[in-house]
Amino acid sequence: MAGVEHERASRAREVWSLGDYERVGARWAQAPRDVVASLDVAGQAVLDVGCGTGEAALAAARAGAAGVTACDPTPELLAVARDRASAGGLSVAWDEGEAQELPYPDASFDLVLSTFGVMFAPDAHAAAAELVRVCRPGGRIVTTAWTPD
Ligand SMILES: C[S@@+](CC[C@H](N)C(=O)[O-])C[C@H]1O[C@@H](n2cnc3c(N)ncnc32)[C@H](O)[C@@H]1O
Repeated sequence: MAGVEHERASRAREVWSLGDYERVGARWAQAPRDVVASLDVAGQAVLDVGCGTGEAALAAARAGAAGVTACDPTPELLAVARDRASAGGLSVAWDEGEAQELPYPDASFDLVLSTFGVMFAPDAHAAAAELVRVCRPGGRIVTTAWTPD
């Protein structure tokens, strides 16, 4: 990772590990669940980018995805996500990683999801290219983002 990118990644971790994310995140937790419910994920290889505490990834695992992988740059949030998966008996592969430099080979997933995650990538074009790269041809990419106001 180049120097400036490394600095940005560190900053993202610092910002997202501040405060009580679980309490704040509860305000929008229904959206990732609704997104997953609106997609037929059964039997699919799913990636959740910027997974935070794992709302979308856990919902996909519950809904019968064939495999769920999730990544986020903030270790503190990944730790919460791991605990939630263990408590619920759900299998998800949790990785540290950023949207603009995803740690996966090309065409690895049927469905690439990001609920309010990829919108925080410092380089939107690089992040979009990465979502396309790791999605198999004919697969689906689904993102949600807040509007500026
Ligand atoms: C608003 S939270 C959303 C978390 C989760 N997807 C959800 O729907 O609850 C934003 C997440 O984006 C992550 N994030 C920040 N910068 C990122 C980047 N460059 N690439 C991927 N995720 C990033 C943060 O660590 C945080 O977990």
